[in-house]
Amino acid sequence: MSPFLLTRTLPEDATDAALRADVLHGLGSDPKTLPPKWFYDAHGSELFEKITELPEYYPTRAEREILLARAGEIARATGARTLVELGSGSSEKTRHLLDALTGLRTYVPVDVSESALTQAGEALAAERPGLDVHALIADFTGGLAMPDTPGPRLVAFLGGTIGNLLPAERAAFLTSVRALLSPGDALLLGTDLVKDEGELVAAYDDAAGVTAAFDKNVLSVVNRELGADFDPGAFAHVALWNPEHEWIEMRLRSLAAQTVKIPALGLAVDFAEGEELRTEVSAKFREEGVRGELAAAGLDLTHWWTDEKGRFALSLSTAG
Ligand code: AVJ
Repeated sequence: MSPFLLTRTLPEDATDAALRADVLHGLGSDPKTLPPKWFYDAHGSELFEKITELPEYYPTRAEREILLARAGEIARATGARTLVELGSGSSEKTRHLLDALTGLRTYVPVDVSESALTQAGEALAAERPGLDVHALIADFTGGLAMPDTPGPRLVAFLGGTIGNLLPAERAAFLTSVRALLSPGDALLLGTDLVKDEGELVAAYDDAAGVTAAFDKNVLSVVNRELGADFDPGAFAHVALWNPEHEWIEMRLRSLAAQTVKIPALGLAVDFAEGEELRTEVSAKFREEGVRGELAAAGLDLTHWWTDEKGRFALSLSTAG
C-alpha cells in the first residue's frame, strides 16, 4: 500500500460561508441565478453519475473514447511524473491516464468533496503500489497552492467542467492554472463542442428525467443547508440553447407565484409565475475559441484530439 495523504486548504466552514454568499447574491440578482457547484452533494453526485450513463448524455462516453485512444500519446508528449486532477470526483476517468502514464510517481486529486477524495484516493493508493496519492481539498476556482511533487507535471481538467464557468471566470481560472505550471509542464483540458441544437438540448433534458431531478436537487441542498422551504415540485426543469453565447442554460421555472423563506439568511424571496432561476451554463466550444482562451492565459495549444463523431475535444497545452 503506497502513501495516501490528505491536505485541507479550505477551512471546515468555508463551504457554508460560500453557499450563503452565493445564495444571497444569486437570489438577489435579476434574473436570479445559483452557481452549478451546489448541485454536488452526495445525492446530486449520485444523480450526476446516472446522467453520465444516459443515452442522451454523450460527453462522458466521448471523452472516455478520446482518453482511451490517446493516453499513450499524452504520456509520451508530457513525460509526466505528477498528475494533478482538478475536480477529480470519483477519479473514474483518470484510471486510463494513470495506466498510460508509465513514469508517474504522484497523483494529486483536487476536489471540494472530502468524501469523494478519501474514497477514491485510498482505493487508488491501495491498487497502485509505487504511486503516491496526495489528495488536496481545495476549490480550484480560487487559486491553488500545489504540494511539492516531482515534475514534469500534467494538470488535467476533464469532463467539460470548464464550460460551467462564465467567460470571465474561465479566463481567471486558466490564468491561475498557468501560474502553477513550470517549463515542461502541461494542461490537459476536456471541452464539449458546439453541435446540433437538438442533440445538445436532449443531453440536458433527458427522457427519463434524471437531469430534471439533478437540476431541482440544488433546491434541496439550499433547504437542508440554509433551512429554506423550496418545494422542488413547484418548479419545472428547463434546458435551452443560447446561440449568442454558445452555451446550454439550465433553469428552474416557477410554476406559480410563490415566496420562499430562507431563515439562515433572514430572507424571503418572491418568484413570479413563470419566472426562471438560472442554475447552470454549460458552454460548448470550437477549436479556435479554445486556442484563443488558452493563449490569452499564456498557454500554447499543442494537441487537439476529438472523438470519432467530433462531439468532444481533449487539448494539450504548455506554458508558452
Ligand atoms: C460534466 C459537470 C461539465 O455541464 O455537462 C450534466 C454537468 N449538468 N448535466 C455538464 C451536467 C447537466 C456537466 N459537467
